[in-house]
Amino acid sequence: MQFTPMAPNCGVEASGVSLANCSDAEMQAIKQAIFEHGVAVFRDQEFSPEDHIAFAKRWGGIDINNYFPLNDAYPEIALVKKEADQQTNIGGAWHTDHSYDQIPAMGSVLVARDLPPSGGDTLWAHMGAAYDALPDAIKQQIEGLEAFHTADHVYKADGLYAQTDMGKELRGQDMKTGAIHPVVIRHPQTGRKLLYVNGGFTIHFVGQTREQSLPLLQKLLMAALTGDNQCRLEWRPGTVAIWDNRTTWHNALNDYQGYRREMHRITLSGEALAA
Ligand code: SIN
Repeated sequence: MQFTPMAPNCGVEASGVSLANCSDAEMQAIKQAIFEHGVAVFRDQEFSPEDHIAFAKRWGGIDINNYFPLNDAYPEIALVKKEADQQTNIGGAWHTDHSYDQIPAMGSVLVARDLPPSGGDTLWAHMGAAYDALPDAIKQQIEGLEAFHTADHVYKADGLYAQTDMGKELRGQDMKTGAIHPVVIRHPQTGRKLLYVNGGFTIHFVGQTREQSLPLLQKLLMAALTGDNQCRLEWRPGTVAIWDNRTTWHNALNDYQGYRREMHRITLSGEALAA
């Protein structure tokens, strides 16, 4: 198996491995690559829904997403889909999956099932590189700070999605979420410092109102997307991407109006985060 960088500070493309049949040693190398580089991409995979579930279980538990439609036959698999006549997509802004949970999902395994003829790429940004590039004064300002995350403004009955043509397909609109995490976490496996706020779900710093938090929060969100810390994936049939939600943000581009896109996602269980 070989890993080729996708960008200077984010993502690797793996070759010479079949995810459905990989050995324990290959699995270890894949995990290490994802922990370090944030996302790994695998091309030309034969990866049935059964393979998808069996592969995910080799990481540990599966977190079933509370909001997206689920695959009827395989409820562990969430459907990230947009029909040809829909305007809104799922995940079309920078975010980190499940940061609104007190024990956020470790990562996601996303499989391309039906792709538009062009467009629908996914972007990732590496939050270790983002943290490293922050000015020292900001690093000092956020040391020891914690932030509140929720998904309520996104998924509730009066939330952002409810006002779009994606609203009627979502589940869990009566759920209430909320979690507090350090603004700078240590990656549980590599120990690297990571910036852990995101534009989708981080609302305010603990001990501050939203208004008081916004100037610094917006500064962090903007600083995190500068430099060489992003990579971009052009999906093809047979492509699988696996990412680490602690290490990365991601953003699904919505530039394929009039075409259908369907992806299968399994979200991998994680662990509590610490500074
Ligand atoms: C997501 O998991 O947020 C969506 C990613 C994608 O559809 O590319």
